Amino acid sequence: MKKFPPISKDFPHFLHGGDYNPEQWIETPEIWDEDMSLMKEGNLNEFTIGIFSWAEIEKEEGVFDFSWLDTIIEKIHNAGGKVVLATPSAARPKWLSDKYPEVLRVNETLVRNKFGHRHNHCFSSPVYREKVRIIDEKLSERYGKHPAVVAWHISNELNGRCYCDRCAENFRNFLRKKFDNDIEKLNHEYWTRFWSHGFSSFDEIEPPRTAASGSLATGPMGDACVLGLNLAWKEFCSEQIIDITAFEKEAIRKYSSLPVTTNCMPMHIGFDHFKMGKVLDVHSVDLYPRWSSDFTGFAKYCAYHCTFCRGIKEGQPFMVMESAPGINIGSVVYHKVKSAEEQLFEAVDFIAHGADTVQYFQWRKGRGAYEKNHGAVVDHYGKSDNRVFQMVKTTGEMLEKLDGVIGTGIDAKAAVVYDYKTQWALDSGLASFAPQDTNGYFTLTRNLFNAFWDKNIPVDIISYDMDFSKYKAICLPLPYIMTEALADKIKKFVSDGGMLISTCLAATANENDLNYTGGVPGAGLRELFGLRVDEVDYYGAGAPTPNAVIAGDKEYPVRLHAELIVPDDAKTLMTFKGDILEGCPAVLTKNYGNGKVYYIGFNPGLEFLSDFLPEAVSECGIAPLSEITGDEFIRVTKREGDNEEYFFVMNISGTEEQTVSLNESFTDVLTGEKKEGNFTLKGKGFMILTK
Ligand code: GLA
Ligand code: ZN
Repeated sequence: MKKFPPISKDFPHFLHGGDYNPEQWIETPEIWDEDMSLMKEGNLNEFTIGIFSWAEIEKEEGVFDFSWLDTIIEKIHNAGGKVVLATPSAARPKWLSDKYPEVLRVNETLVRNKFGHRHNHCFSSPVYREKVRIIDEKLSERYGKHPAVVAWHISNELNGRCYCDRCAENFRNFLRKKFDNDIEKLNHEYWTRFWSHGFSSFDEIEPPRTAASGSLATGPMGDACVLGLNLAWKEFCSEQIIDITAFEKEAIRKYSSLPVTTNCMPMHIGFDHFKMGKVLDVHSVDLYPRWSSDFTGFAKYCAYHCTFCRGIKEGQPFMVMESAPGINIGSVVYHKVKSAEEQLFEAVDFIAHGADTVQYFQWRKGRGAYEKNHGAVVDHYGKSDNRVFQMVKTTGEMLEKLDGVIGTGIDAKAAVVYDYKTQWALDSGLASFAPQDTNGYFTLTRNLFNAFWDKNIPVDIISYDMDFSKYKAICLPLPYIMTEALADKIKKFVSDGGMLISTCLAATANENDLNYTGGVPGAGLRELFGLRVDEVDYYGAGAPTPNAVIAGDKEYPVRLHAELIVPDDAKTLMTFKGDILEGCPAVLTKNYGNGKVYYIGFNPGLEFLSDFLPEAVSECGIAPLSEITGDEFIRVTKREGDNEEYFFVMNISGTEEQTVSLNESFTDVLTGEKKEGNFTLKGKGFMILTK
């Protein structure tokens, strides 16, 4: 496999550092000097700075003071450190919103917010954009070629939406473009005769809105019953976030060619991360596993999210921009501190799935305000002889031995598709942007992933846009939204010899959430699957299900959805047991061209998928990694480059000792020892091996 280039060609090592706010210590510059020596002592090499520094750089409109930033970047450089430099657009100075209230976001009740918090801005505001452009260009001009600066960090965890008149008009423009300025096309696609919702002009359209108190019982505060419009609004909000990122990148590019990223949170479904990936040079993510609450569960969480992040840029290694060295306060109520073992395991778990950095939030605890007690590399105590600092130091020691891993990738032949549009549409019934997962989309993608990963079968998570031809098997979770063009791409993949595994709800609606008539699967996929879905039984989240699926002497529970399927030329492999569906086909297969499809006519759980998927894909030559095998809790991933192979062996049990069999001879990357034969790994243990 061909290696990917390192994030920084001048620094092909693991960046090990984190979010640093030197401006909070501007009155005590001796702290800055302590920070530099602590960085070296702790085996760290990077600071991410400037994220929330706008007010300190531009104290009044148009008056810029870069002197403190000059000093700190020089200090980092002189200490041998690197800088990931942020644009400060995630939080604005107060003067900006006082003078130009249009920069403030309008919330769903159509009230303009006051100054406060962060990310409280309107992405459409020309003033906001202009002020961001000016400061970004100045930063880029001043530091874009500085030898210490290795990458740009745009904003911070971009999210949210604004309901101001300007955003509403931009939304209408988005729709005008989508429907060639033809309102009748929109009326047709959005089925607006329903409840007399027809529009006579684009001017009449407002962003869909159901404020918290706006249930039908109390009276809706806006309209969210046109599902196509809801979907378009989510798509528009996503594009706005991606567009402002591209806008900032353009400002940076005026003077600097360094790689650009923005830190994403996988659970933020307010934008399409795959589309965002096209704007970024490198993807980055913030991950906060809570090891103490469920060690195995969070090992799986990290594996899934890191695989997702690797998928964003088609296998390219990504940055873990933030992780908590101590407690995480804010997003979760309960987050116990990490043990030293958990800290090391976490870093290895990230890297095993494609991370090329290990960074923290935060470097040093501030003395006041919202995040003063959030875990940090440097505590208020300020010294290095405390537990967390020592844990981080040990992590740095390990990372220094892993240079060879930089740029290596994972060669997977199986993939699971994740489609934001489908996820948004499936949640649309709730007119909600929260990842409610009522239809189990997210859970199902995770279960599909786990069915492979649990067996040490390399697997990718991809979008519909990606090249399918490098895969032998592709899984489609609830492929409810389907276009004809996509259906053609899927059919070509199968007829060229690929294996496609689809779950229920296939090709139900087009890209505007308008249902197909004449039978589902629509969009031409009935021919591929060789069946017609006559009815979908929906049990509701958490509801008891009357049906199960029978496979030989095993029975699998059915959750959420089960379909009444009428086969055309597909062969039935398993049937349902239970009320109306008794004896009806549940799992079917069909050969198509040189390939094969499986159709799972229900929303399957992990137990079914773990038994079914590895066996199904074995027919096309997909197998677990064979070089290293082990007990139930042993997970193995392999990162490879042009000539090298690294094996990450992890015991994802928090407590149980597990046996690992090395079926070839290896060298332990961390100790240099030769290794072969059987080993035991204690709970939370890991090994990094090479051949
Ligand atoms: C997010 C943000 C950080 C910080 C952390 C706290 O990840 O990006 O600025 O607020 O949460 O966990
Ligand atoms: Zn707005």
